[in-house]
Amino acid sequence: MTTSTIQNLMKQMTLHEKIAQLLQLASPFFKGSTEQGHITGPMAAMPISDEHIEHAGSVLGVAGAAEVISIQKTHLENNRLGIPLLFMADIIHGYKTIFPVPLAIACSWDPELAQKSAEIAAKEASVSGVHVTFAPMVDLVRDPRWGRVMESTGEDSYLNQVFARAFVRGFQGQDLANDLQSVAACVKHFAAYGAAEAGRDYNTVDLSERQLREFYLPGYKAALDEGCEMVMTAFNTVDGIPASGNEKLMRSLLREEWGFDGILISDWGAVKELIPHGVAEDDKEAALKAIKAGVDIEMMTACYVQHLAQLIAEGEIKETIIDEAVLRILTLKEKLGLFEKPYRGADVELEQQVVGHQDHLQVSRELATKSCVLLKNDHHTLPLNSNKKIALIGPFADSGDILGPWSALGVKEEAVTLKQAFEKHLPIEQLNIVTGCHVETISSQQLEEAMQAASNADVIVVAVGEDSDMSGEAGCRTNIQLPAPQLELLKALATCGKPMITILFNGRPLDLHGVLEHSDAVLEAWYPGSEGGSAIVDLLYGIKNPSGKLTMSFPDNVGQVPVYYNHFNTGRPQGAPDAQERYVSQYLDAPNEPLFPFGFGLSYTQLSYSDLELTSTQLTKDTDITATVTVSNVGNVTGEEIVQFYIQDLVGEVVRPLKELKSFQRISLKPGETKQVTFTITEQQLRYHHADLSFKSDKGSFVLYAGTNSKDVLSHSFQLISGRN
Ligand code: GLC
Repeated sequence: MTTSTIQNLMKQMTLHEKIAQLLQLASPFFKGSTEQGHITGPMAAMPISDEHIEHAGSVLGVAGAAEVISIQKTHLENNRLGIPLLFMADIIHGYKTIFPVPLAIACSWDPELAQKSAEIAAKEASVSGVHVTFAPMVDLVRDPRWGRVMESTGEDSYLNQVFARAFVRGFQGQDLANDLQSVAACVKHFAAYGAAEAGRDYNTVDLSERQLREFYLPGYKAALDEGCEMVMTAFNTVDGIPASGNEKLMRSLLREEWGFDGILISDWGAVKELIPHGVAEDDKEAALKAIKAGVDIEMMTACYVQHLAQLIAEGEIKETIIDEAVLRILTLKEKLGLFEKPYRGADVELEQQVVGHQDHLQVSRELATKSCVLLKNDHHTLPLNSNKKIALIGPFADSGDILGPWSALGVKEEAVTLKQAFEKHLPIEQLNIVTGCHVETISSQQLEEAMQAASNADVIVVAVGEDSDMSGEAGCRTNIQLPAPQLELLKALATCGKPMITILFNGRPLDLHGVLEHSDAVLEAWYPGSEGGSAIVDLLYGIKNPSGKLTMSFPDNVGQVPVYYNHFNTGRPQGAPDAQERYVSQYLDAPNEPLFPFGFGLSYTQLSYSDLELTSTQLTKDTDITATVTVSNVGNVTGEEIVQFYIQDLVGEVVRPLKELKSFQRISLKPGETKQVTFTITEQQLRYHHADLSFKSDKGSFVLYAGTNSKDVLSHSFQLISGRN
């Protein structure tokens, strides 16, 4: 179907049919639906009629080829013009084969593998009838109290852009119309949902436009530049106006400045939430504000179907504003080939073969080994020797709750637990597995059993963490330590005097007091997905060498939050040569630095950096500089290293971060091997938003840093001779 035939179709549609196209409902509302579907928000009573449903434009939360075919078939029988439904779902880090949560995937610093995971997720979702995924989520995050940091790729704008592009490429492939194993992507949540005050979900976001443009918006822009088909509004305010009713953000910036002409969908109920936000009196005003802001699809509330026709009749809006939205929706249906193939990739037989395929699980295992981050490894406790007797203790020793939030059709009971993986690796007589405590409770009997198991073992492996519902949407915590019973267990086990390895299963950076001091080694496993247990055992026994690097700082304690690496220096920086004892920017009761900085991660080998050299120290807008750093493996096992390059602008028109990630490279080094890693510095990388928000560079002094994380770096100065005006 071409655009002109879409236009012709629209001419045949009544106003009510056009308005109904803007309605998105969860799958149980639809005739032909036989299942509960995936309900991901508050289910309020809605004043909608059968006619609204018969002419609705899209469905969310549906699962399974048979279900999609049944709903679509029934819909086409009842829809006067035979307009097919768009089926959308939250396929965030896997459909049935579940990959590590996105914050973990980011710690792999492997965009190619991230793209592969999205390709597999799209393949499993599309054969199951899904057309659009509500991903990637690219909200920049700096506050681990917020439950949804697990869904992001972290605190760095550049890295968020790299992963945003990779996920969009993976989901959408090269040809949405003909590649039936692809799905359209929907970047979210526009904008700056991750900056919710106090880390409390749905809370106020209030940033300067410069902060917004410099740090928070580039991730969304990168996804759109990669061809992402849809954008989802954020629940929060931006500069005092909720995103779903924010004309400046949606019309002026997203559509006019960025030229985005795809679908803008509200988040669940976000149109009606303009009322509690206090910018709309009622559903009618909410509908008016949202449609004027350019929200095309209203998810799971009925303000549009109730009031848009009346608003046109009263002259508040023109029908053309409805037509714009309908055209975008029909255009995506046409791009996906739905008018010719309304069932698109849905295939009940193929679904049985594709979904959860062993090859997919293998990729999940590989990505999980790269996503885990080795935070501590004193006395070379790891890797383990396979002849040691192991006491595996903790609430996650045999838990399938390792898929994390937003794990779609993933089944916890099918996840490979640590217990199962250890049992595959060790003879049973070398293994003693006890719970030791529950996630939030402990009994004297459990503790006794744990101490007994530990006393009979050579090595203690403790598996602790957060229930997955302590993370994710509305999963915010003011205390980011492990629950007290687990800290009690760790403290008790540490008295056994045995080497102790702690495995963390969590969706956020934690305050690791009570963990670090009692552990000889700590492995951050996040929610590692379907093959989590296998991946962790691969790492514990050195079958794989850890290479993951943190993409979100671990605070010393929650009182530091927000704490992130690319902060400003302030006028009284701590540790400056002439710094006062007291009157500097510091705490009386805690360090300024995080416990573990952005980019941090250990390996089983030791890597040394030397000889950071530049081809020149004079950069101009037309001549680049090539930097070279030498990295050597001075340990005795092969290891992968993520070499990181940061730049500091020493003097700007506005204050500039102490460091900004500009590039990274993954290299593999055999014992004794040395490699030279290069990075090309360009004038474009030095551009930033000036006082008047113009985006340009200015001449001056800069420092290049190269290293294994954002703190341990070599440095080299250079000048930008001529900036870009
Ligand atoms: C939820 C989430 C959003 C998700 C949507 C549909 O409230 O905020 O990320 O895509 O509803 O499930």
